[in-house]
Amino acid sequence: MTGSYPASRYRVPVSAEEEVKGQAARRRTFAIISHPDAGKTTLTEKFLLYAGAVVEAGAVKARAGRRAARSDWMELEQQRGISVSSTVLQFDYRDHVINLLDTPGHRDFSEDTYRVLAAADAAVMVLDAAKGVEPQTRKLFEVCRSRNLPVLTFLNKLDRPGRDPLELLDEIQEQIGLDPAPITWPVGIPGDFRGVLDRRDGSMIRYERTARGTGEAGEQRLSAAEAAESLGELWAAAQESSALLDEVGASFDPKRFLAGESSPLFVGSALTNFGVRHLLDAVVDLAPGPSPARDSSGEQRPLDAPFSGFVFKVQANMNPAHRDHVAFVRVCSGHFERGMVLTHGPSGKPFATKYATSMFGSERNTVDDAWPGDVVGLVNASGLRVGDSLYESAPVAFPPIPTFAPELVASVHPRDLSRFKQFRKGLDQLEQEGVVQVLHRLGGDPNPVLAAVGQMQFEVFAHRMEHELGAAVELGVAQERTVRRTDAQTVPKLQEAGGVELLERRDGTVLAVFPSPYWLSRLENDHPDWTLEAIVNS
Ligand code: G4P
Repeated sequence: MTGSYPASRYRVPVSAEEEVKGQAARRRTFAIISHPDAGKTTLTEKFLLYAGAVVEAGAVKARAGRRAARSDWMELEQQRGISVSSTVLQFDYRDHVINLLDTPGHRDFSEDTYRVLAAADAAVMVLDAAKGVEPQTRKLFEVCRSRNLPVLTFLNKLDRPGRDPLELLDEIQEQIGLDPAPITWPVGIPGDFRGVLDRRDGSMIRYERTARGTGEAGEQRLSAAEAAESLGELWAAAQESSALLDEVGASFDPKRFLAGESSPLFVGSALTNFGVRHLLDAVVDLAPGPSPARDSSGEQRPLDAPFSGFVFKVQANMNPAHRDHVAFVRVCSGHFERGMVLTHGPSGKPFATKYATSMFGSERNTVDDAWPGDVVGLVNASGLRVGDSLYESAPVAFPPIPTFAPELVASVHPRDLSRFKQFRKGLDQLEQEGVVQVLHRLGGDPNPVLAAVGQMQFEVFAHRMEHELGAAVELGVAQERTVRRTDAQTVPKLQEAGGVELLERRDGTVLAVFPSPYWLSRLENDHPDWTLEAIVNS
């Protein structure tokens, strides 16, 4: 865009375009992917601590009150939409602006969790060193892979007894097909973690514990000779493992990392703060900043082109007192200034951005400026849907956000048949918002079937149908199913094979629901030419 820009706090702008590029280069927008309890919340808190965004860890969710906060969350009034407490945390670190996107955990696991990754430029995969790769990590990693997202790995909880880290490297490679490239390596034995060997220069960083890690961990860098003298056999063992890693070629290669093939790996303990700084430094030094986004025709829109962005998540009624509707927009190009009037891609209508917010924990702040990589929460955005583009002057549409096949299906009926009209209207609205998928059986059965990735989607659906849309529903028990997208050629073959339920979405997409994963793999093996895809574009 052209026009007047507020003077940058960070550099003297040579031109508006250069300022956009400079601001974009300072951004790191990433998400943490992990299985529940691997330590995502703890690590998030520690990132904030090291960035100076909080003085004492525990600000994101007060530790003592956390369990209580979690059960509060289960109150539907509070969990309207998805994670109320945070969608994006923005903080400064080393003259960079970090946007940490929240990927909600187990109870909240939903299609939104996947969509959030569409707005990230990189991911940090946190593994519990005692457990290794767990199911939810695997699922989220699949999304990263589908987008070639670079992934950094953090082996967490090394302060307590866990598995042999070398064995964990094999597991990462075998189970998710990513080549780990350890940059730091533990010194000590599981449960007696003394520090890390920095494989970049062969030195050691020794840590000192603080009480529950509320303050930064004391760090002392030792040369290899000093480490050998002070730690003897423990150091020799770490060096031996590191030499073994050299031999098998587990070294960091930036190209393979950026291509999503290899993952720089860091070890540590989020609880005691060991290794947290290295990881955060790696986000700044290794993870990519925003790059020009491809539009739906495959053209790249330069970062300094006029403003453009896409909606990756919508949350209705986050605040029940206000009945608001927030659309989260990832900025792809240009400079966002609050108050600017954008064009809504799908409708071509103007969209005024008077109410733009960012979130920090549960606080909302007004956003006046945003740059590529940032996320803006647009309030009163009931016309905006996931995947919609917003732009200034030069029109753009972005490709659909890939969604994954649902894993749960449930039947649904209106509780009161006299409210059938409200029931239909409500279904339409919540389907459009992406709360659940609404499907119909091929062959004319008028009763809809709901499909989702997480159980909470059904709960939010039922709650909103009753309290907001005036149509209470009866939900059948959600069944876990293996679902694949199929096409018109494969449909008759599946009908002939039998045992498969065929459901159609409003956009014409047909989903095949298998009674078990075994039936699917048998059909896949016998008929490799059939279309049975796990990725379903929205
Ligand atoms: P999540 O967001 O991924 O679900 O995990 P979260 O950070 O909530 O951590 C889950 C549990 O693991 C917490 O313990 C947390 O203290 C612990 N934890 C996280 N990182 C580490 C680590 O590096 N080392 C050790 N030993 N534990 C770690 P909790 O008992 O469930 O909660 P709390 O009582 O500690 O709050």
